[in-house]
Amino acid sequence: MHWLFNLPSALWRRLMLLFQGVAALLWLIARGIGALFGRGGTIGSRLGAAIASPAGQRQVFALLRLFQPNLVLKRRIIAAYPNNGITAIATRRADVVDILGRDADFGVVYAPRMEKITAGENFFLGMQDSPRYTRDTSNMRLVVRRDDVPSIVTPYVANAAAEIVAMVPGVIDVPKALTQPVAAGLLDRYFGTPGPSEAAIAEWTTLLFWYLFIDLQADPALDARAEAAAAALRSWMDGHIAERRSQPHRDDVLGRCLAMGDAAMPGMRDLDIRNNLIGLMIGELPTLSAAANLALDELLDRPGPFAAACAAARDGDDATLSAHIFEALRFRPLNPVIYRRAMHDTAIASGKLRRRRIAKDSIVMASNLSAMFDPLAIPDAASFRVDRPWESYMLWGHGMHSCFGGHINRAVLPALLKPLLAQPNLRRAAGVRGRIDQAGTPFPQHLHLEFDS
Ligand code: HEM
Repeated sequence: MHWLFNLPSALWRRLMLLFQGVAALLWLIARGIGALFGRGGTIGSRLGAAIASPAGQRQVFALLRLFQPNLVLKRRIIAAYPNNGITAIATRRADVVDILGRDADFGVVYAPRMEKITAGENFFLGMQDSPRYTRDTSNMRLVVRRDDVPSIVTPYVANAAAEIVAMVPGVIDVPKALTQPVAAGLLDRYFGTPGPSEAAIAEWTTLLFWYLFIDLQADPALDARAEAAAAALRSWMDGHIAERRSQPHRDDVLGRCLAMGDAAMPGMRDLDIRNNLIGLMIGELPTLSAAANLALDELLDRPGPFAAACAAARDGDDATLSAHIFEALRFRPLNPVIYRRAMHDTAIASGKLRRRRIAKDSIVMASNLSAMFDPLAIPDAASFRVDRPWESYMLWGHGMHSCFGGHINRAVLPALLKPLLAQPNLRRAAGVRGRIDQAGTPFPQHLHLEFDS
């Protein structure tokens, strides 16, 4: 009998799927007409810009979820990693979760570029499910401890962000003055790996993140810059580890690694420590800084939620503040898709009408953005709501490779933004200065805000 009770809600969800898909179609037709009669650039570039915008991406995924939930294209979208020239895009939450959970069928692709960065060994994000993956992640979990989040990481970030905001005279370039310095400060104070300067470590980790995850077309110019940055980072890390070895061990991530190396733990030679920490540094700085700015930008575009987030920051209501920040990120996640490669001939959504065969070596893009807007799984998906269960979010991946820093992110992002959001009359600076400027990178590099000091 249960199915009978579930029927109305199942029908309602299907109706929402239909409604979202048709609304998306109308949105895209309207943008197409706008592009036809618009100014600046070609029709294609105008339409491309509309579709590539966060709102545009959401509309495209809504259309796909309805009409072609698992789209298979005979098109090479990724040139940076080997594949057979076929790309599948999965948009329904059930299929995204399924793909990211099937490590034996859909493997990570990143090994070749990880090995270039370390000039040798792979890093665990580039590894398939293997004893080596378990060893390396276990070692890193022993040094980056969940207990540290409330006792070391969050207090550091909260204090550093508050000190910075207290020093600025009513106008702040958020990435440069707040989010990058605090993320770099965390690398120094907690990880023990500050780099030769804040500017150098920000530049190297940003470039290497771009190279690993965003440079889908394998731009040769970026390749050269990434190789130079990787060589500089390796060389600095080697010198730094040698220097730290000559001192009594400190209780930070590097110090704990060195102590494990002293105990001859497998996978903790100095070279292993260097490579693992390089992976964590690339994962830490550009992501935390970018995600904080994306959340802030999305909130600034939504006057009601922005005012509520500012009020929560002023009142010290951390739960409400966090709920606003993560809901903003649902609309603007750092990455809209997570990609894998089929390890052998297989299928997505077996036993369903939307089933698609996937040939060995096809790239499979599982869209976490789309999964977070799938009305079949997420109630009232199109609305900005701050009462969603945490499980609704898929901001840092899913399954075996889901973000190593997940607990850090959840605590750090609100702590990083809280002092700024608490400022009176916080607003965008006038004109383009008040908008995100990526300065030729894929990440926010400038965003000027003002407040009454
Ligand atoms: C808001 C900031 C962050 C976002 C949005 C983010 C996003 C992600 C995503 C989507 C993945 C999955 C990649 C995949 O499955 O292909 C991932 C994995 C990973 N992240 Fe993050 N990340 C963030 C912060 C961090 C931080 C602070 C660290 C370091 C402490 C970190 C280290 C890693 C590592 C090492 C992995 C690989 C985990 C594994 O293979 O088991 N990330 N991250």
